[in-house]
Amino acid sequence: MKRSLAFGVAIVGGAIGVVALAWLGFAWYESRLPETYSVMDYAIPDVGGAPAGADHMHGETSVVALHGPTGTPRRRFVLIAREGSVRLASGRSVDALSFNGSVPGPELRVREGELVEVTLRNQNIEQGVTVHWHGVDLPNAEDGVAGVTQNAVLPGESHVYRFRAGQVGTFWYHAHQASAGEVRRGLYGPLVIEPPRAPQSGARDIVVAVHTLDGTPLVNDTDGVERHVVAPGAAVRLRVINTDNAPIRFGIGGTPFRVVAIDGTDLVGPTLLREKTMVLAAGGRYDVSFTMPRTPVKLAVAGTLVGLALSTDGKADPPPPVPGPEFDPVVYGRPSPTPVDVSSHFDRVFTLDVGRKPGFLDGQPGKQWTLNGGIYPRVPMFMVAKGDRVRISIHNRTGAVHPMHLHGHHMLVLSRNGIAVSGGPWWSDTLNVEPGETYDVAFRANNPGIWMAHCHNLAHAAAGLTMHVAYTGVTTPFQTGGAAHNHPE
Ligand code: C2O
Ligand code: CU
Repeated sequence: MKRSLAFGVAIVGGAIGVVALAWLGFAWYESRLPETYSVMDYAIPDVGGAPAGADHMHGETSVVALHGPTGTPRRRFVLIAREGSVRLASGRSVDALSFNGSVPGPELRVREGELVEVTLRNQNIEQGVTVHWHGVDLPNAEDGVAGVTQNAVLPGESHVYRFRAGQVGTFWYHAHQASAGEVRRGLYGPLVIEPPRAPQSGARDIVVAVHTLDGTPLVNDTDGVERHVVAPGAAVRLRVINTDNAPIRFGIGGTPFRVVAIDGTDLVGPTLLREKTMVLAAGGRYDVSFTMPRTPVKLAVAGTLVGLALSTDGKADPPPPVPGPEFDPVVYGRPSPTPVDVSSHFDRVFTLDVGRKPGFLDGQPGKQWTLNGGIYPRVPMFMVAKGDRVRISIHNRTGAVHPMHLHGHHMLVLSRNGIAVSGGPWWSDTLNVEPGETYDVAFRANNPGIWMAHCHNLAHAAAGLTMHVAYTGVTTPFQTGGAAHNHPE
């Protein structure tokens, strides 16, 4: 009797084991990605509550047709991507990937309304390259995502991007092929779109691109303090760009200041701040302005020795700013009307849950990122139609920060953790979502295409924290995967 019971238990136990193993085997088998596939193949369409049958994923419009304007460009640039050593301001050489031989790549400055043409050439980067114009809401075919909007540009090849500089602001460009490695190793640069008229004379406009290259913190190409001569009374605008994978904290000492723009959009009614600590999302931008005092001003990036020192003789070494409470865009600026707002009727309402669970990613076991419970590539694809008002509720249910970035659109932040934004309109393209946080965002679907939405901690994106917002009727001829040489992340 006892023996048969034990025997029974063993059989049941064994059966459970076999089932568990079979399940594991299946999960592993199912997770493996083929050599090439379309991003449309596995994604789970989510119509955001729109009437059934309104959408279809495989449309008639190819992303290729959604290209930038033809005509004679007003501005032309050439970006040559190469692998090789670059020199930092200190004289130190680092083995890096660069555009035009420098890290960051050249600062591209254009004026609003200009037709811009950029030719990308790949000199010798084996994996291939592309250029994505982070934060610029340009036509889909110019978006620079390997395997979605174009093929990776292989050594010896080139590709031309054309777009009209539509929105004044601070942006940046970076590789979107094998981007986790390529951006970290130096394939990025600033892009500034200035107003059509010349700035007031004597004004200073300085880009501060913050990066960690080969373990070395940088502001622009300086692995130390970048010094500038600035006359007292000058209007100063600093354009801080976080090109790293983690949020940066920075402070400004020696003067009160205003945060005048976030992610390329000017704020309405920004008030004077003192001793605030700015927390800037990976991929995000804050523009800060002040009137230069007679005494030096310092911008310092917390946890590093890098920063900016402004003074009348360019030699000063001002002390680091006093760390203060965090700057909070939720309560900053003056409310003003926007094309969508909390009271809008939304045609599509989505939830985006960022989670984590054990599973397989392309055959690799581990704790995987999930989007609405699915592991890449079985993640949602948010379907929208042109003209839709769209709301997305983003929840971070993990212990890590996720800077959530949407291509091709700016998101209006409606609320954080259920608390409505009470300051000025806060438009973001890269939102720092801390563990446990919830953000409600909205946008107008006015830029047809297949647009990536991903974490801008590019290591997370490469580990599957990536999905798409797709307009119904748009399709892509490009393939992702080994044989196609396209690996957007
Ligand atoms: Cu700045 Cu999809 O990236
Ligand atoms: Cu992330």
